[in-house]
Amino acid sequence: MSVALSVSHLGKWFDSATQALDDVSFEIGSQSFVSIVGPSGCGKSTLLRLVAGLAPATTGSIRANGRLVDGPVAGAGMVFQRPVLLPWRTVLENVLFVAEMGGQPARRYEAQARQLLTLAGLQGFEHHYPHALSGGMQQRAAICRALLLQPSLLLMDEPFAALDVMTREQLGFELQRIWGARKSTVLFVTHSITEAALLSDQVLVMSARPGRIERIVDIPLPRPRTAQTLQSPAFLALSATIRDSIERNIQADPYTQVPVA
Ligand SMILES: Nc1ncnc2c1ncn2[C@@H]1O[C@H](COP(=O)(O)OP(=O)(O)OP(=O)(O)O)[C@@H](O)[C@H]1O
Ligand SMILES: [Mg+2]
Repeated sequence: MSVALSVSHLGKWFDSATQALDDVSFEIGSQSFVSIVGPSGCGKSTLLRLVAGLAPATTGSIRANGRLVDGPVAGAGMVFQRPVLLPWRTVLENVLFVAEMGGQPARRYEAQARQLLTLAGLQGFEHHYPHALSGGMQQRAAICRALLLQPSLLLMDEPFAALDVMTREQLGFELQRIWGARKSTVLFVTHSITEAALLSDQVLVMSARPGRIERIVDIPLPRPRTAQTLQSPAFLALSATIRDSIERNIQADPYTQVPVA
């Protein structure tokens, strides 16, 4: 399997007092689905932004499909932690925006955009403006936008965080289906251990800030994964392994706040 993404000794300082990432190295095989989990503030969003070429690293380097990342990566789709839609464009126009940005006629992608919006449960809202949608609906529109051009590298930063549990689970299966059909390489940040174990080939567990890769957990469960997968002993054992790795590195750092409840 060829390497889609290679991150080598990556470090990121925002100022002399704030180190977000410390010597982060990993490789991701082409067309694999990899999740990143770790405590709040450990540098997950920072890592994704660096991989997308939206911010410079302080040390180390990143290669996407063999090319050194030194600016926005062409052919990468990004879903941010909060939906970022243009308020003066309708939902459909927002999804089509990436085609226009890529210098392609929006018309050619309209059927595809409508299909994605239907998949994401936004049928009937194509001509609404973002302010008339809930946060979760806006995020689903942002996911459709990221998928429109079938990116070879899809970077997703807690894309389902604002959604209710049922929608979240449904969209997770939907994402698996789309990924299975189109085979892009996905780097997916989540706070949900269940989501990480269900969707991924590998889970990268990060330490508290400055973020390091604490452990890589392989998820060799057969695909497609379904609601039954969630009940299987192998799935539960892998989820427990991820949970243990997170808890162990939180306990090792007395300054990390562990959420109550
Ligand atoms: N633009 C910035 N300027 C200064 N510091 C920043 C900036 N962006 C992030 N940081 C700091 O870098 C650290 C990592 O932030 P980041 O947003 O990457 O964490 P995260 O793992 O995504 O957290 P969460 O799970 O809460 O989303 C934090 O201490 C944060 O305050
Ligand atoms: Mg974040």
